[in-house]
Amino acid sequence: LTNSLQDIISHAKEYGFVFPSSEIYDGLQAVYDYGQNGVELKNNLKTAWWKAMTQLHDNIVGIDAAIFMHPLTWKASGHVDGFNDPMIDNKDSKKRYRADQLLEGKAEEYTAAGEAEKAQALLAEMGRLLSAEDLAGVRDLIIAENIVCPISKTANWTEVRQFNLMFSTQVGSVAEDSSLIYLRPETAQGIFVNFLNVQKTGRMKIPFGIAQIGKAFRNEIVARQFTFRMREFEQMEMQFFVRPGTEMEWYSAWKETRMKFHKAVGLPAEKLKFHDHEKLAHYANAAVDIEFEFPFGFREMEGIHSRTDFDLRNHQELSKKKQQYFDAELDANGKPYGNYIPYVVETSVGADRLFLATFCNAFTKETVGEGENEKERTYLKLHPALAPIKAAVLPLVKKDGLAEKGEAIAQSLKSSFRTVYDDGGAIGKRYTRQDLIGTPFCIAVDYQTMEDDTVTIRHRDSMEQERVSISELKEKIGYQVSM
Ligand code: GAP
Repeated sequence: LTNSLQDIISHAKEYGFVFPSSEIYDGLQAVYDYGQNGVELKNNLKTAWWKAMTQLHDNIVGIDAAIFMHPLTWKASGHVDGFNDPMIDNKDSKKRYRADQLLEGKAEEYTAAGEAEKAQALLAEMGRLLSAEDLAGVRDLIIAENIVCPISKTANWTEVRQFNLMFSTQVGSVAEDSSLIYLRPETAQGIFVNFLNVQKTGRMKIPFGIAQIGKAFRNEIVARQFTFRMREFEQMEMQFFVRPGTEMEWYSAWKETRMKFHKAVGLPAEKLKFHDHEKLAHYANAAVDIEFEFPFGFREMEGIHSRTDFDLRNHQELSKKKQQYFDAELDANGKPYGNYIPYVVETSVGADRLFLATFCNAFTKETVGEGENEKERTYLKLHPALAPIKAAVLPLVKKDGLAEKGEAIAQSLKSSFRTVYDDGGAIGKRYTRQDLIGTPFCIAVDYQTMEDDTVTIRHRDSMEQERVSISELKEKIGYQVSM
């Protein structure tokens, strides 16, 4: 962990954003809870995504499918047979590692030592062995590279095994094979199996999309880096159904649209980049990640995949139900395109990763004042539309009617924004409390307010104060995410 990730984790906990799950029992690895401020920030991000994907497009609608699905779903999607991570145990420490991550770590060491070519060669060899399912070869490579276990410091490794990442459980009370079901490892399949339901009942014409936000579960072997890789997490996915042959146009268009979204919610351009996949997943003919520069480096935040007709075709085969669309539009020869299984371009972003990116980016420590007055200031530089609390109304003193006035102002803002009223302690301390959770606007009520119905707005980032009349307040602070 870098220092700054440690700072971020501590801040997230101390100010009610993210808590370790079941902390009183010392937590549960790779599972986290969102606290009173975290849930607001996360909801605001989800709302921004939902609006960007559905409200702003005439041809995208949302659904909310169940987490449990028929077991054949995961056969069709390829997850039963192919959703594996190669894992290896160290015989001395009894600790389990992901074989590919051990090798990637070694490659990073080479890169850090200025041996970029060696790193490249190692990654290429690893890619070759993994795609050939040559697990003994992967183990040999780990040993040849003399990779030692970080704990035992020995290279006493077991063989490499494929480990399926899906969690399973039983439905009903009888433990028999047919009752085995999985917790969905991606939300996408809930969309695929409802493709015709939505198309028919919504009279949707291709190209059209279906969006969904929901939980997904993966039994990640190595859980690291706070909420970056969790066992229970949330995805925001959209499948865009297109005519075969047009998928690359849509793939490019969605790449740009999604990149714009991340900038619109306040992530800076220099911390975002595309990363094309060299190795494609079993379902894709093109794939790119949008990476964000986390404190531990550039990492995947969103995936955009051209999935062809892989999923719908497999569902058609296993369900024996046609997954076709009739396209009445005329082709160049004046004939309707007719029946086909649509191709799909998918955009898939982790709500928790977007949250983590937003939180890391907002976390700001700076020195303010000069000489004796110099001090460190910590605040969250969140987009005003995303902040857990939009406005805090703070009377300068409690007496002479200022408290009542302040409460009335807070009350008048509450139906439009999440607003708090706070009259406890010195005003400077109250500003600081709001800075720490990212409240963009503090509204101070003073004696002048009692005379002319004006207040000051104190802006979080610049700390500048602006005098405005109470009637202008809503307009002044009513920021939206503009896309
Ligand atoms: N339907 C396609 C799909 O699931 P993916 O690249 O495996 O593709 C998409 O996952 C996104 O879901 C990732 O870019 C990431 O943001 C998020 N995600 C995946 N695994 C995660 C995990 N263990 N913890 C948190 N987020 C995760």
